[in-house]
Amino acid sequence: MYVCLCHGITDGHIREAISEGCCSFRDVRSTLGVGTQCGKCACAAKGLVKETLSNL
Ligand code: FES
Repeated sequence: MYVCLCHGITDGHIREAISEGCCSFRDVRSTLGVGTQCGKCACAAKGLVKETLSNL
């Protein structure tokens, strides 16, 4: 499922970034660029990062 349309980022990309060491939304944002264009995805992306981190 696409989370960020501006950058074509899916939930899978976000989970992968976390499994490769990102440990906050800020890390994911600077690694993938999610939320850095229109910003509409930021809330959903933050929720997904939080959920993924809490399931580690
Ligand atoms: Fe993610 Fe626009 S949808 S920055």
